[in-house]
Amino acid sequence: MFDRSVSKSKAWKKLESHYKAFRKVEMRDLFAKDPERAAKFTEKLGDTLVLDYSKNRISEKTMGYLMNLARERRVEDKIKSMFRGDRINITENRAVLHTALRNRDNTPVMVNGRDVMVDINAVFAKMRKFSDDVRYGKFKGHTGKKLVNIVNIGIGGSDLGPVMATEALKKYWLKGINCYFISNIDGTACAEVLDKINPEETLFIVASKTFTTIETLTNARTCRKWLVDALGEPAVAKHFVALSTNTEEVKKFGINPDNMFEFWDFVGGRYSMWSAIGLSLAIAVGMDNFEKMLEGAFAMDKHFTETPLEHNIPVIMAMIGVWYNNFMGCHRYAVIPYDQYLKYLPAYLQQLDMESNGKSVDVNGEFVKYATGPVLFGGAGTDVQHSFFQLIHQGTEMVPCDFVIPAISHNEIGDHHEILLANVLAQGEALMRGKTQKEAAEELKAAGKSKEEIDFLKKFKSFSGNRPSNTLLLKKVDPYTLGALVALYEHKVFVQGIIWNIDSYDQMGVELGKKLALNILPELQNNVHDLKHDSSTNALIKMVKAFRK
Ligand code: F6P
Repeated sequence: MFDRSVSKSKAWKKLESHYKAFRKVEMRDLFAKDPERAAKFTEKLGDTLVLDYSKNRISEKTMGYLMNLARERRVEDKIKSMFRGDRINITENRAVLHTALRNRDNTPVMVNGRDVMVDINAVFAKMRKFSDDVRYGKFKGHTGKKLVNIVNIGIGGSDLGPVMATEALKKYWLKGINCYFISNIDGTACAEVLDKINPEETLFIVASKTFTTIETLTNARTCRKWLVDALGEPAVAKHFVALSTNTEEVKKFGINPDNMFEFWDFVGGRYSMWSAIGLSLAIAVGMDNFEKMLEGAFAMDKHFTETPLEHNIPVIMAMIGVWYNNFMGCHRYAVIPYDQYLKYLPAYLQQLDMESNGKSVDVNGEFVKYATGPVLFGGAGTDVQHSFFQLIHQGTEMVPCDFVIPAISHNEIGDHHEILLANVLAQGEALMRGKTQKEAAEELKAAGKSKEEIDFLKKFKSFSGNRPSNTLLLKKVDPYTLGALVALYEHKVFVQGIIWNIDSYDQMGVELGKKLALNILPELQNNVHDLKHDSSTNALIKMVKAFRK
């Protein structure tokens, strides 16, 4: 356990006083003074990924102080501790070993005296056989047809990873395969997919770590009934598989454990796309590509465990996030992939970051006295330039951005990609540099505006600048790069959790609402007159029922 005084520590106090001296410093001046600034604040992972973090409100001193804080919080020890399987998820007394899933050199990883690599490799072998058999028509449906519709039924970590990664790697899908995802309990989610597919050609993958999640089980039951109505009960064995840690519940649901792909409690839901939870992806892109994704993540893991903090990409991004969150009072950030195939990356990262670090109690059981996880939002560029970028450029809130851009597109049509690239580079420059009122006035003058018009408009047309961004330049969105990118964000979130002294691997905040929903459900379904909620909830229950009469 760390000592309790995170925000009273020497390194923290140093950053507070540094902030006072530094807060008015303009990035454009820093760039003007130091032609080497970009080179100083750029790191690379092989020829896969580059982080340019020079357009942040930092100096070498800032980074030095931030790294002192990281050292004071014993980040290096904590990294080792996670990778060797210590029970760092202290509230659930679990190891955190999603990294073992991409441990491509197979060094033993011991949990409870057992090398988990043995179990992991056995499941990967089963995934390889099954995904090949489905892809090449050896494993057929009940009526002998090839299974070409792959429907993943899961929610949260059992959905967002597969959704994001299958979309990101769409160019690698086997021809003729279609992937669908059903997550929401809203019947529309099921109806919309079932309307499009033929039961004889459909494989349902029920993905749930616990196999108790009401949304997933309800959706799975609906799909099961739809299949049985069409093809009869014996068809279930050929059209349903499960991905879970819970064999008993899988059996109870009526799926043969032979059709189950296992993972383990040391893999958190939002960290599970590397496990059997990735089966839909493995079928779509093939196990070779799935393993390339693991290799990319492994490369990032090696970088993370072996690189000094000052050059360590996840650590740098984490500490810059801490700088904004805890010293500049900026509790939000945006991730903007400039790539259509990465359009679900922000949604995926939202769960990763906000479910991991949205905590108020530290590992000692004390309420924290400083900000923890920020709000994350985002969307694909250039679309979002035409929605929330107004606020990012001229709003009163500072929103640090991560721009994620592949240098090479999978669809080099005409000059689309150069236009896209020009846009993302321009956004970073515009946010950093801004436009002074003087510059705005000169432009207005050149456009022939009168003095009154210039005086009135120049403030509206000016940009404060000094607004930060990271640029993550990828060579191309391929399986390897995607693996490295996702692992980077996982580690960034982990490092921030260390700094904030919280358990990034539980998610107790999702429980209360789930429990209350179970109380309300019978009240909606039956005639209950004596409602015992607050007056708002009571009235809403009555109004819902009145509408549904
Ligand atoms: O929303 C809470 C949560 O437990 C997530 O952490 C998890 O990814 C999701 O529900 C789904 O859980 P399961 O895979 O057990 O169905």
